Amino acid sequence: MRSCRLFACLAALPLGRAHATSDPHVGPTTADGASLYAQYCALCHGAEREGHAADHAPSLRAPEMFESAPPAFLWYAVAYGRPGTAMAAFATEQGGPLSHDEQHVLLDWLEAQSGVTGKDLPDTPVRGDVERGETVYAERCAECHGATGQGGTAPALANPVLLATASDAFLRDTIARGRTGTPMPAFRGVLDESELDAVTAFLRSRAGGWAAPAPVVVNPPDPSSAIQNAKSPVAKLPVRQGRFVAAADVAAALAAKRRIVLLDARPLSDWQRGHLPGALPVPYYEGVERIVPHLPDDETPIVVYCACPHAASGKVVDALRAAGRTRTYVLDEGSLVWAAHGYPVAIGGAR
Ligand code: HEC
Ligand code: HEC
Repeated sequence: MRSCRLFACLAALPLGRAHATSDPHVGPTTADGASLYAQYCALCHGAEREGHAADHAPSLRAPEMFESAPPAFLWYAVAYGRPGTAMAAFATEQGGPLSHDEQHVLLDWLEAQSGVTGKDLPDTPVRGDVERGETVYAERCAECHGATGQGGTAPALANPVLLATASDAFLRDTIARGRTGTPMPAFRGVLDESELDAVTAFLRSRAGGWAAPAPVVVNPPDPSSAIQNAKSPVAKLPVRQGRFVAAADVAAALAAKRRIVLLDARPLSDWQRGHLPGALPVPYYEGVERIVPHLPDDETPIVVYCACPHAASGKVVDALRAAGRTRTYVLDEGSLVWAAHGYPVAIGGAR
């Protein structure tokens, strides 16, 4: 008995685990892999696992796939399917026909039939020139995989389940070696090594969606605009342990347009993605020298937040207090809870 490489199924990875209350499936619990395959998979993947019997389903016998796919790759493809393609989710917990044990039996059988064993490629990111990769993709790959990775005669490479479960090394290896007995050519020798890196990096860069726009980096606002509602009465915030203020009180003060300073202690990239209204970025790793001259030294509360919720904000508060700004507080819950409560968030350059 071979050892099972499909350990992912044992880890409780929460990918939409809506368990059916009753199992409508009354299939063979003792079925062997061959009959499970014949019943559920042969329709599209072919009687001999050769692929392309229907819906351009890929080969399930190409040795390259069984050699270099990460352990969880096949498990997830079968359990969760490839949403938006003909490959359905087969796990009972997704409403499919295969119990956990049956899926084990089936995948162990498929791997045994392939005649090869996995070689666990290193899971190190592949770096390459994404723009060059985009050109290579358009010239060499789009005809089969679709101009936007939507699939065609070949699998959808923009698929979120594929990109979440395929490692860079596996993608690169697939492109370099192709898939024996299928239309997927080996590109080693056709593309040079840096082009293989480039097209791999391009595929990875689509993980956020094929049309995901490149982030537009905006300049953060001028520190001289730190004080919000400068002419209004100060925000009165109850303080816990001389240090923490509650998200609900800060949200109420903002809604009432009270005078306040909000500082974002996270990396600038996080601030770009979304921040509390009017917050100025003061990344915890930058020091506070630049901002201190712009901060009020009166009753105005200065509230610092991060996501975590206290580490980065605590560091900035300590630095500000050391610089003589004592009405400095940590937002107790952090920005993630803030957003989860539905309190306002500004995006990018918006204040
Ligand atoms: C002539 C058609 C064709 C071309 C051109 C082609 N592929 Fe493929 N590719 C396929 C097919 C078909 C498969 C599925 C293998 C099978 O049929 O079993 C595949 C599989 C793959 C896979 C594995 C996907 C998975 O679900 O496991 C990757 C990654 C891939 N191709 C990348 C590329 C890249 C990148 C290029 C361009 C450099 C490219 N392919 C060019 C036909 C093609
Ligand atoms: C209705 C047709 C259909 C059936 C039935 C079907 N598949 Fe698929 N399968 C597909 C298609 C199409 C794809 C490629 C999807 C894509 O574009 O990414 C796929 C992809 C896969 C992949 C990923 C392979 C790769 O190269 O990335 C695996 C593994 C797989 N199927 C296994 C199975 C197993 C096991 C069964 C039976 C339990 C099964 N499929 C039943 C159509 C089907």
